Amino acid sequence: MKRETPVTVITDDGTPTLYLPGLDEHYHSVRGAVAESMHVYIKTGLEACGRETVDLFECGFGTGLNAFLTLLAAGQSRRHIHYTVVEAFPLDAERAIGLAYPETIQPGSRPLFEQLHRCEWEREVAITPFFTLHKVGADLTDYPLGDESYDVIYYDAFAPEKQPELWSAELLGRVARSLRRGGVLSTYCAKGEVRRRLQQAGLVVQRTPGPPGGKREILQARRPDGSDT
Ligand SMILES: C[S@@+](CC[C@H](N)C(=O)[O-])C[C@H]1O[C@@H](n2cnc3c(N)ncnc32)[C@H](O)[C@@H]1O
Repeated sequence: MKRETPVTVITDDGTPTLYLPGLDEHYHSVRGAVAESMHVYIKTGLEACGRETVDLFECGFGTGLNAFLTLLAAGQSRRHIHYTVVEAFPLDAERAIGLAYPETIQPGSRPLFEQLHRCEWEREVAITPFFTLHKVGADLTDYPLGDESYDVIYYDAFAPEKQPELWSAELLGRVARSLRRGGVLSTYCAKGEVRRRLQQAGLVVQRTPGPPGGKREILQARRPDGSDT
């Protein structure tokens, strides 16, 4: 992947996403950016984890949409979420801030969205009493994930056809090992090969229905309690 200037596109639910013409990839589903993020990451990932305090890892900060929805969910549920995200190609913050997510998701929340983008990288920052953010500028393929570090993982890399190195058995194995027992990983990508690699890494993987109007299936993977993977 090369750094390039994205183009804004309005998706089917009326919310924006970004498109990279050189890579021919969108940051979210064109069937609905917010609908996809809510379904794949908040409902299938975060809400499937019952813990009161959650260490969460995301691959790819991008527009900050997943982080923003998680911040709002943390406040609503009064759960404490420590959000770590690795991003190799950070967007220009002002460009990302211009996306109209706060207005469509929760009027009045714009200052929080701006804070997510403007806060410092490489350190943990408390954005609200329930949400801390640690943005790491790094390539995930080199990033030391650490075993049993996270309760929830949002695996939101670009598609395997575009970035196969982010879906290799080796990397997915390390990602799987970074989940704590009982932890949950969710991803929009339901390809058989991805599912098998996660299973080989010891996770119990389920195909579940995708967002309304979007992909037919997505993946939810859980590290069993008592597993020694
Ligand atoms: C599908 S987009 C994620 C969108 C993001 N979660 C959001 O809510 O906007 C994939 C993201 O992964 C980032 N990325 C690409 N290669 C990467 C790598 N090797 N390591 C870490 N991040 C990478 C891209 O720059 C992009 O922001």
